[in-house]
Amino acid sequence: MAIDILVVDDEEMIRWTLKEALESEGYNVNTFENGRDFLTYFNANGGDIVLLDVRLPDSNGLDLLLEVTRIDPDAIVVIMTAFGDVDTAVSAMKRGAFDYISKPYSLEEVSLLINKIVQANLLKSQLHHYQERLENQFSRILGENQKMKQLREHIQMAAKTDRTTVLIRGESGTGKELVARQIHFQSGRADKPFIDVNAAAVSSTLLESELFGHEKGAFTDAQRQKKGLFELANGGTLFLDEIGDLDPSLQVKLLRVLQERKFRRVGGTSDIHVGVRIISATNADLEKAIEDGRLRQDLFYRLNVFTINLPPLRDRRDDIMLLAKYFLEEFRKEFSKDISGFREDTCKILESYSFPGNVRELRNIIERATLLETTSQIRPSSMPEELKKAVELEYVSYNPVEKKPWQMPDFNFKEYIDSVEKQIVTEVMAEADGKKSKAAEMLGLTRFALRHQLKKHDLDSEF
Ligand SMILES: Nc1ncnc2c1ncn2[C@@H]1O[C@H](COP(=O)(O)OP(=O)(O)OP(=O)(O)O)[C@@H](O)[C@H]1O
Ligand SMILES: [Mg+2]
Repeated sequence: MAIDILVVDDEEMIRWTLKEALESEGYNVNTFENGRDFLTYFNANGGDIVLLDVRLPDSNGLDLLLEVTRIDPDAIVVIMTAFGDVDTAVSAMKRGAFDYISKPYSLEEVSLLINKIVQANLLKSQLHHYQERLENQFSRILGENQKMKQLREHIQMAAKTDRTTVLIRGESGTGKELVARQIHFQSGRADKPFIDVNAAAVSSTLLESELFGHEKGAFTDAQRQKKGLFELANGGTLFLDEIGDLDPSLQVKLLRVLQERKFRRVGGTSDIHVGVRIISATNADLEKAIEDGRLRQDLFYRLNVFTINLPPLRDRRDDIMLLAKYFLEEFRKEFSKDISGFREDTCKILESYSFPGNVRELRNIIERATLLETTSQIRPSSMPEELKKAVELEYVSYNPVEKKPWQMPDFNFKEYIDSVEKQIVTEVMAEADGKKSKAAEMLGLTRFALRHQLKKHDLDSEF
């Protein structure tokens, strides 16, 4: 991608020589003889590096410098000052100029400076990319359950075929984004961008111009042309999260990109071709969305070329403690706490909970518990109240997807009923603040029958 350099100077000779010299080095150069022309252009088209003369016929370079950084904080401005004008150079640097050059300068000096700028910026973006890769390498997908082993195989397959469109399905918090990143960073596109767009987070008009970009003047606020995420992701991966919420008009446009690998900017008249792999994700019931007419069937087929289904955590309970220990290790270090593991009863609670929020919920629970815990092992008291309750309730009304109580090997009818009775009485007594008459009323029992229950279950001394 050629770098755009804008030269603003009222002396024609300077404009001409800089343009000649820099173009011969492969840069794109535009020149302007006054501030007004320059600003009009910059507002519409932007630019990477601006070489700005301080004394212009219609404006002061220092004021223009402020205007440039206001329009685009990433633009790099070099101020050209008169020989010996140290004050101006200092003010320019204070106002955010990258550097200054005093006149008269040699072309070589300018060329070296531009080179320095380009290298520094290149390095910055490479560093950013490198850090991201490193982070992604370490955010491993954990799980030893058979379903997770299969998932890892599917990720590898998807990574190898790096043009295939992938759809990741799974409940909230099951790791869809994690999987999308893994696919990208294991694929041949790893050193190209991974761009993540949440279809549910922005309005559909905004999303359209985010995805496809817009031409100058396409709508009221479009003061300059803007590249969309499809263009920015070129060569890499575009991750469309929460695809179930896509507006119908956007569905048509997305379908076109998937079919023809080309699109138009908003307000644009020419086609732009891109080589982007699309990975989408959803926790929505897409078949139902098609039935209700909210999702186009043809789009669904295009997105659903290679499907990866993420199992909910409750369907792979053998991974719960493995994940819990991993998260404990992470937070123990972060909060500098001396905690070695989980107490046996805490493990039981965790292993029997249903985790509607899946791995994310487990991670949050462990973070909170690590903070709260004051002993060397995580106790049930550091678990959230609703989790302890949910586990008890699940026990009473048994979870139909799990094994039924009488299917368990050590099932004993009488003991089971007793335990349910005891649990109900204990809970209701606690709710009634230990007042027997109130508890009896809540349970629809006589006071005599309640007293009998308390005695039977050895609860007299507690209430
Ligand atoms: N198998 C796993 N191993 C380790 N960490 C995991 C695993 N699955 C999920 N996580 C962690 O759980 C959290 C939620 O994962 P992620 O954001 O990928 O879920 P999601 O499916 O995209 O959720 P949502 O539908 O809410 O967007 C993240 O912190 C992620 O690192
Ligand atoms: Mg997500």
